[in-house]
Amino acid sequence: MADCQCDDAGGLTLSPRELYDRLTEQGDQVRTLKTAKADKADIDAAIQSLLKFKLDYKRITGQDYKAGCPPSEDAVAHDNGPSEDGADTVDPWNVSTTNAKGVDYDKLIVRFGSSKIDKELVDRLEEVAGQKAHRFLRRGIFFSHRDMNLVLDAYEKNKSFYLYTGRGPSSGAMHVGHLIPFIFTKWLQDVFDIPLVIQLTDDEKYLWKDLTLEECHHYAMENAKDIIACGFDVNKTFIFSDLDYMGSSPEFYRNVVKIQKHVTFNQVKGIFGFTESDCIGKISFPAIQAAPSFSSSFPHIFQGRKDVPCLIPCAIDQDPYFRMTRDVAPRIGYTKPALLHSTFFPALQGAQTKMSASDPNSSIFLTDTPKQIKNKVNKHAFSGGKDTLEEHRKHGGNPDVDVSFMYLTFFLEDDEQLEKIRQDYTSGALLTGELKKLLIDTLQPIITEHQLKRKEVTDDMVKQFMTPRPLNF
Ligand code: TYM
Repeated sequence: MADCQCDDAGGLTLSPRELYDRLTEQGDQVRTLKTAKADKADIDAAIQSLLKFKLDYKRITGQDYKAGCPPSEDAVAHDNGPSEDGADTVDPWNVSTTNAKGVDYDKLIVRFGSSKIDKELVDRLEEVAGQKAHRFLRRGIFFSHRDMNLVLDAYEKNKSFYLYTGRGPSSGAMHVGHLIPFIFTKWLQDVFDIPLVIQLTDDEKYLWKDLTLEECHHYAMENAKDIIACGFDVNKTFIFSDLDYMGSSPEFYRNVVKIQKHVTFNQVKGIFGFTESDCIGKISFPAIQAAPSFSSSFPHIFQGRKDVPCLIPCAIDQDPYFRMTRDVAPRIGYTKPALLHSTFFPALQGAQTKMSASDPNSSIFLTDTPKQIKNKVNKHAFSGGKDTLEEHRKHGGNPDVDVSFMYLTFFLEDDEQLEKIRQDYTSGALLTGELKKLLIDTLQPIITEHQLKRKEVTDDMVKQFMTPRPLNF
C-alpha cells in the first residue's frame, strides 16, 4: 500500500481527504467548462488533471474515487509501515525510524490523516480549561488530534464527554514512557471534571505474548496499582480488566459483536498487517479495544446512554485501533471518538525507537531505584555532545538528538529553565555529564514519589476502582 502523501501536479503533499476534495473540485471544473462550451484544449487539460488525480487517489487509498463518498479513515490505515522515503514505522507493535531526532511527526499526521494540535487549539483548550496548558501541550508532546474541536464545542454548550485510555499488561513493571498518557489523562480529568474508563487488555497480551491467562490477569492487577498511583479520582474512574469485565457486561459484549460484524478480515489485514496464520483471537481483538469508545458499553456509568462523546488520549501507536473505530462508529449508530495523540518517549539509546518494556536496557522502569536510574542514564542515554571536552566547549552539543534533553522536555516543568538548558548545551557551556546529572536529579524524585504513592495503593482500593458502579460527575 502506498504512502498517503503524494506529489500531485503542483508538488503538494496531500492527504486522501484533501485529494478527494481536489478531485471533486476538478470534476466540477470539467463540468463547468463543458457547460460553458469552453475551448476544447482547456476541457482536455482539465480532464487530464482529473484523470491524474483519480490515479493518485487510487494509488494512495486503494479505492476508486466515487463522488459523494469521501475516503474512509482506514483508507490511510494500510500505511503504518515504512513511508516511501524508507523512514518511519509506527504501529501498535513497532516504532522505528532512521532519524536520530525521532519519528517525523508532521509527516505522520499527513500519513495517518489526523490534525496537528496547533497554537490555536492549545489556546482554545487553555481558555475552556481556565488554566495554563499542560507542559505536554505547550511543548508539542501531545501533537496530533482527531475532532478535539468538536469535543470542545460540545463542552462549551454544557455537553459533557468522557475519557478512555488503556494499558496492555505484558509485565508487572511499567516504564516511564507508559506514564505519559496517564499523566495527561489525569490532567484532563481534573480540568474537565469528567468520568474516565481505563481498559487493561490482559486478553490482548495473552493473545500476543507467550504468557498464561493467569499471568496476564495478575499483571493487569499490578499495573492497575501503578495507574491508580498517578492520582486518579476513584469517584470518577472505572478501571477494568477485559478478562473480567467482558464476561460480566452484556452491553459491552454486544458492542464488541456489533463492531465485529462491521469490519472485514480484509480491513483488519490492511490496518494491522494480520495474516492468515495469525490466530483468530488477534484478528477479532481490535473490536474489543474499540468497544470502550462507546458510552453504551458502560451502563453503570452512563445509564444506557449511547451518545456521550468519548475522548481518547494515547500515544500515536494506538491510532490504527481508533481509525478502525471511527470508521465503524457511524455504521453502527454511534458517535466517533475524538483523540489526542502523543509523541513517543524515546528509548535510552536514542529516538530511533520508543522506550519499550521488552528491551530492559532501553527503559527506565517505575520500579527502578535511584541508583539504577543514575547508572542507566549515565551508561545508556544517547548523548548529543561532542567527543572531547574541547570540541564540546567549542562547538556545543545537539539537544535535538540528545536523549537526556528529550527526557527533560517531558518532565521538567519550568519552561524558562528548560530553555536555558537548551541554550547552554547548544553553546557548549553545559557538558553532557552535567546535563545527565540534571536529568537524574529530575527523574529520581519523580520515580521515588511514584513508588511511595504506589505502596499506599491497597488491594481494596484496586477493587474499588475496578468494581462496575455509578460514577459521580
Ligand atoms: P501499551 O501498554 O503498549 O501502552 C500503554 C499506553 O502508553 C502509550 N505508550 C507510550 N507513550 C509514550 N511513549 C512511549 N514510549 C510509550 N509506549 C507506550 C501507549 O500509546 C498507550 O497509550 N493496546 C494498548 C492498551 C489499550 C489502550 C486503549 C491504550 C487498550 N485500550 C485505549 C490507549 C487507549 C496497549 O497495549 O498499550
